[in-house]
Amino acid sequence: MRLAGKTALVTGGGNGLGRGIVEGLCAEGASVLFLEIENDWVRQTEADFRARSMTVIGVHGDVTKVADVKAAAERCMAEWGRLDILVNNAGVSMPLAIDLADLPLDEWHRLINVNLTGPLLCTQAVVPLMKQGGGGSIINITSISARSCYPGAGAYSISKAALEALTLQSAVELGPFNIRVNSMSLGWFRSALNEHVYQKPGELARREGMIPLGRIGSAEDCARLAVFLASDDSNYITGESIESDGGLLAAGLKYSVELARLRPATKA
Ligand SMILES: NC(=O)c1ccc[n+]([C@@H]2O[C@H](COP(=O)([O-])OP(=O)(O)OC[C@H]3O[C@@H](n4cnc5c(N)ncnc54)[C@H](O)[C@@H]3O)[C@@H](O)[C@H]2O)c1
Repeated sequence: MRLAGKTALVTGGGNGLGRGIVEGLCAEGASVLFLEIENDWVRQTEADFRARSMTVIGVHGDVTKVADVKAAAERCMAEWGRLDILVNNAGVSMPLAIDLADLPLDEWHRLINVNLTGPLLCTQAVVPLMKQGGGGSIINITSISARSCYPGAGAYSISKAALEALTLQSAVELGPFNIRVNSMSLGWFRSALNEHVYQKPGELARREGMIPLGRIGSAEDCARLAVFLASDDSNYITGESIESDGGLLAAGLKYSVELARLRPATKA
C-alpha cells in the first residue's frame, strides 16, 4: 500500500487510461476524486469502484473551467483534509488529420485549452493545498508525439510538447515546496480516444509489429507508472519525462517510415 493515507485528484478519470489510473492509485491505498466531463461516466465509474469498496468520488466538470477545477480541489480538502497527488490525464486528440497550414483556429484552441490550459489550471488549483500539506506529486500525461511528429497531428503534438515544458517549468518553481512534477510520455495505448484506429482490419497486428515489446500498452501499464511517480519510490525524481511506449521511439527509423505510410489511411 504505497499510497496509504494519500489523496489524489485525477482529471478525465471516468474512462480510458484515467479510469485505470484511478483504479491503480486506489489499489495502493489512496483516496481518489476524479473530474470528468462526461456525466454518464462520472456516475458509472464512481458506482463501479464504490461497489468494490474503493474510496472514489466522481465529480462532473471541465478542466478548462476555473470554477470546476477549483471546486474539485476544494472537495478533496472538504472530504479528506489534504491533497497529495494530481494527475493531469484529461486530453483530446484530433479525429481527423489536418496539416497546420489548414488547421481551423477553433480546433487549435480546443486542443490547447484541454491539453495545456487544463493542466495549468489544475496545477494552479492544487499548489496552495499541496504547500499546506508539505509537498505533493503532479503527473502530466503527455505523448511520444511531443518528440516525434506525425503529419496531420501537429496541434496535438504541439499541445503535448508544451505540456512537457509546463512539467519542466513547474518542477523548477515548485521543487522548493517539495512538490515534484513529472510527465508520463505515452506511446500507443488502446482507449476510447483512439478505438476507431484499432477497428481498422489488421491495424492492431500491424502496430504491434512495430513495437519492440510486441504489444499495445494497457491501462494497467499506465497505472503502474502513475503509482510509481505518485509514491515515495520516486521521491528524488522531478522535472522528468518518462517514456512508456514498449520501445516504440527507440525503434526510431522503422517508426518514422511506418508513420509516413499511415498518413493517407488516417486522412481517408
Ligand atoms: N491512448 C493513447 O494511445 C495515448 C497515447 C499518448 C497519450 N495519451 C494521453 O493519455 C490521456 C488519456 O487518454 P485516453 O486514451 O484515456 O483518452 P480517452 O478519450 O479514452 O479518455 C480521456 C478522458 O478525459 C475526459 N475529458 C476530455 N476532455 C475533458 C475535459 N475538458 N474535462 C474533463 N475531462 C475531460 C474524457 O471524457 C475521457 O474520460 C490523454 O491526455 C491522452 O492525450 C493517450
